[in-house]
Amino acid sequence: MKKIQMVDLLGQYEKIQPEIDKAVLDVIRSSAYINGPEVKSFQAEFEKYLDVRHVIPCANGTDALQIAMMALGFQPGDEVITADFTYVATAEVIALLKLKPVLVDVNPDTFTLNPDAVKAAITARTVAIVPVHLFGQCADMDAIMGIAKEHKLAVIEDVAQAIGADYRLQNGSTQKAGTIGTVGCTSFFPSKNLGCYGDGGAIFTNDDELGKKIRMIANHGQSVLYYHDEVGVNSRLDSIQAAVLRIKLKHLDEYASARNKVADWYDQAFSNHPNIGTPVRFKNSNHVFHQYTLVLKNADRNKLREYLATKNIPAMIYYPVPLHLQKAYRDPRYKAGDFPVTEMLCANVISLPIHTEMNEETLKYITDSVLEFFPKN
Ligand SMILES: Cc1ncc(COP(=O)(O)O)c(C=O)c1O
Repeated sequence: MKKIQMVDLLGQYEKIQPEIDKAVLDVIRSSAYINGPEVKSFQAEFEKYLDVRHVIPCANGTDALQIAMMALGFQPGDEVITADFTYVATAEVIALLKLKPVLVDVNPDTFTLNPDAVKAAITARTVAIVPVHLFGQCADMDAIMGIAKEHKLAVIEDVAQAIGADYRLQNGSTQKAGTIGTVGCTSFFPSKNLGCYGDGGAIFTNDDELGKKIRMIANHGQSVLYYHDEVGVNSRLDSIQAAVLRIKLKHLDEYASARNKVADWYDQAFSNHPNIGTPVRFKNSNHVFHQYTLVLKNADRNKLREYLATKNIPAMIYYPVPLHLQKAYRDPRYKAGDFPVTEMLCANVISLPIHTEMNEETLKYITDSVLEFFPKN
């Protein structure tokens, strides 16, 4: 059996190798390494895929969040509400811009922002909500957009883990994750569902003015060369990465189906198991399964992980420490016990390998091994 990995990027590349190799070599031969035609074509194709007016490619997902917040003109001390259970990048940029991260708890079933907790966290200084579409499905965007509208707040969707997911709005329409709020931010980190072969990211919006400002800030605050209207940053997607992404974008929906097949297998193998909680699918979003994350009950997570390691099965803990208990984000406002759902998840989640190149033999080996670990009742 092939070595089991959390994600098999080489196996995926091998299936599209001739096309990728040619595209990369073409960029090298063109010498248009920065802002070349591949970047423009990728931008246009991604706008079409997402059905959004503006895609602004940038250097990575963290930059995407930072640039979006800069473009929205937030001032130091303004409060930005986000989930306590997320990757650090979401809160990092809030803190870096001297805004105040206001952390709230998540729903225990979907792991995404709890709208009641968001409501309770709003103050006169709140300027934005950052829902994180964690592990591959959207947060409750109807509820979040409703709260944002009522309090005139921006919504910055962190769609790094859910690119390609569809959200069914209460009004019956369907929109791509990241195109519902004021602005969407994503990452093309290699292991992401749409990953390039290095770093990359993008920001999307339907707001023409905001789109213009985002583009300017990502380009040193200039829209005319050497005339700088704002303090900006240098954040670019390079042409080689854009060329790779153009090819992989064509496969993105098929990649999501392959991931869903893996998730279905796992769901079935673990259904009704007394020690294993399988991911709950939120009714308004489809799931693109960036991660397949179990919540263990009355089980020793470390022992399970060690047991799987003896069978050469990797497993990861996303995320072991809630943001409010991270050293860098300690704040007198927060203490252990404040976010019980996040704290419970951090203590009990474990993610199994999920990617586009898994076969039944591997899946059976993994699920049999997990089930073997638990003593028979
Ligand atoms: C939820 C979330 N937000 C933001 C990021 C940051 O993306 P990047 O690593 O490209 O900066 C990531 C990925 O790493 C992520 O998972």
